[in-house]
Amino acid sequence: MKENRETAKDDKELPQTPNQRPRTQFLLFWGQWFVLMLLPCFGTSACDKVNSDSLLSLALKAPLNLNWSASTDCCLWEGITCGPGDQGHVVRLWLPRRGLTGVINPSITNLTHHTHLNLSHNSFLGSLPEDLFSSLSSLQIIDLSFNRLIGRLPPSNKISQLQVLNLSSNFFNGTIPSSILVPSVSIFNVSNNSFSRSIPIDNGSNHTSLTFLDLSYNKLNDTIPPGIGLCSKLQVFRAGFNSLSGSLPDEIFNLADLRQLSLPVNSLTGPINDGIMNLTNLQTLELFSNQFSGPIPSQIGNLSRLENLLLHVNNLTGPLPLSLANSTKLSALNLRVNTLTGTSTKSDKDDQKKTTV
Ligand SMILES: *[C@@H]1O[C@H](CO)[C@@H](O)[C@H](O)[C@H]1NC(C)=O
Ligand SMILES: *[C@@H]1O[C@H](CO)[C@@H](O)[C@H](O)[C@H]1NC(C)=O
Ligand SMILES: *[C@@H]1O[C@H](CO)[C@@H](O)[C@H](O)[C@H]1NC(C)=O
Ligand SMILES: *[C@@H]1O[C@H](CO)[C@@H](O)[C@H](O)[C@H]1NC(C)=O
Ligand SMILES: *[C@@H]1O[C@H](CO)[C@@H](O)[C@H](O)[C@H]1NC(C)=O
Ligand SMILES: *[C@@H]1O[C@H](CO)[C@@H](O)[C@H](O)[C@H]1NC(C)=O
Ligand SMILES: *[C@@H]1O[C@H](CO)[C@@H](O)[C@H](O)[C@H]1NC(C)=O
Ligand SMILES: *[C@@H]1O[C@H](CO)[C@@H](O)[C@H](O)[C@H]1NC(C)=O
Ligand SMILES: *[C@@H]1O[C@H](CO)[C@@H](O)[C@H](O)[C@H]1NC(C)=O
Ligand SMILES: *[C@@H]1O[C@H](CO)[C@@H](O)[C@H](O)[C@H]1NC(C)=O
Ligand SMILES: *[C@@H]1O[C@H](CO)[C@@H](O)[C@H](O)[C@H]1NC(C)=O
Ligand SMILES: *[C@@H]1O[C@H](CO)[C@@H](O)[C@H](O)[C@H]1NC(C)=O
Repeated sequence: MKENRETAKDDKELPQTPNQRPRTQFLLFWGQWFVLMLLPCFGTSACDKVNSDSLLSLALKAPLNLNWSASTDCCLWEGITCGPGDQGHVVRLWLPRRGLTGVINPSITNLTHHTHLNLSHNSFLGSLPEDLFSSLSSLQIIDLSFNRLIGRLPPSNKISQLQVLNLSSNFFNGTIPSSILVPSVSIFNVSNNSFSRSIPIDNGSNHTSLTFLDLSYNKLNDTIPPGIGLCSKLQVFRAGFNSLSGSLPDEIFNLADLRQLSLPVNSLTGPINDGIMNLTNLQTLELFSNQFSGPIPSQIGNLSRLENLLLHVNNLTGPLPLSLANSTKLSALNLRVNTLTGTSTKSDKDDQKKTTV
């Protein structure tokens, strides 16, 4: 307990300008809170009164008063779930939309039995603790979306049970480490960050559980890797609003379950070839604002589930496919600003969403 008191003292002694105060306060708040939490759950000692009192007063300053009370079992605290049995291991920390701020304190890495982490829609700042993923190797669900987290993702190769990772709408940068796409990952959403360089799919790796891959609104600037074709369960692939170049790899046409292929606003080139007809479950094909060239596959309208076909602002040429007349589900079609023969050259803004055939 001596250590705790010292930490508190150190934190209090940090120089506090008026601007720094809220941040420091929450740093202290989170750090202390985790330490407190560990005591009743993992330790045998009762929580030190001085510590718990100071903690309590800190907790009460949180924007939403959480009922963390040192006199009660932490397993009963709001947002906390402990595992089965009497060991009292915290397995869930579920506090979305609580107005929480400050950095995610490294003490979180002591919750080693943690499987579910949801801190989405808060205002967490700074970068993730360096050993977050290596310490919390039991994590299955991570939702840190809609915060203000920055910097690179920490090393992640130990996180072998991960199923859902949602880091969308933060300010993460650097590369997306391919090690984070462990074989168990089913949903991977890092959209709306500042990740650069490559799509983290290696040819040799196993991504057979992956169903949703959303990389849109980043700064990815490489090509689409052929390995994408090995993600055999992939249903949704979104990587629009990046700077991807090169052509669609043929391997992408192996993805028989693909419902949504959304790659708009990139620098993709080359043809949209007939392989697209392999994607019989395709509902949405969004490739607008690229530099695709050549004809639109003549049979495209025979993709019977197609609802959205947005190919505008490309370099597509040739005839408007007659098969589109067969496309009964189609509700949004835009082929404008291509040099197709037989299309209307109308360029009104209302073409943007709903042009029906
Ligand atoms: C804290 O609040 C939650 C519900 O918000 C409740 O289920 C729990 O029993 C409370 N715990 C304590 C220690 O009061
Ligand atoms: C996290 O909590 C929010 C509630 O605001 C919820 O919408 C979201 O689905 C949760 N995340 C996961 C992965 O379940
Ligand atoms: C984790 O807990 C141990 C023992 O309680 C403590 O010494 C250590 O500082 C904690 N780690 C972090 C990162 O807080
Ligand atoms: C990533 O963001 C951090 C913090 O904002 C910055 O210091 C670093 O230079 C950025 N790195 C890259 C590769 O953009
Ligand atoms: C994050 O992604 C998961 C998986 O798609 C989803 O269940 C969850 O609702 C998302 N979180 C938010 C806050 O939208
Ligand atoms: C990824 O997260 C964003 C929110 O940031 C959401 O709009 C989008 O639908 C998610 N992608 C998938 C494939 O669920
Ligand atoms: C991206 O994130 C920013 C800030 O978190 C948010 O304001 C914006 O609406 C998000 N954009 C998308 C397309 O989700
Ligand atoms: C790939 O990963 C899945 C799910 O984790 C596993 O069932 C399968 O055996 C792995 N396949 C190979 C070839 O490693
Ligand atoms: C991608 O951008 C990085 C800088 O962020 C640059 O160093 C690299 O050469 C670019 N790669 C390609 C293929 O353009
Ligand atoms: C389309 O699927 C067939 C059989 O599933 C496969 O042999 C062929 O290579 C695929 N075509 C392309 C272009 O991927
Ligand atoms: C697409 O068309 C534009 C303007 O017509 C031209 O500058 C560009 O080189 C073309 N790109 C390709 C890949 O054909
Ligand atoms: C429309 O569908 C019918 C039945 O599947 C097919 O015979 C015909 O060739 C299709 N028309 C076009 C123009 O592709």
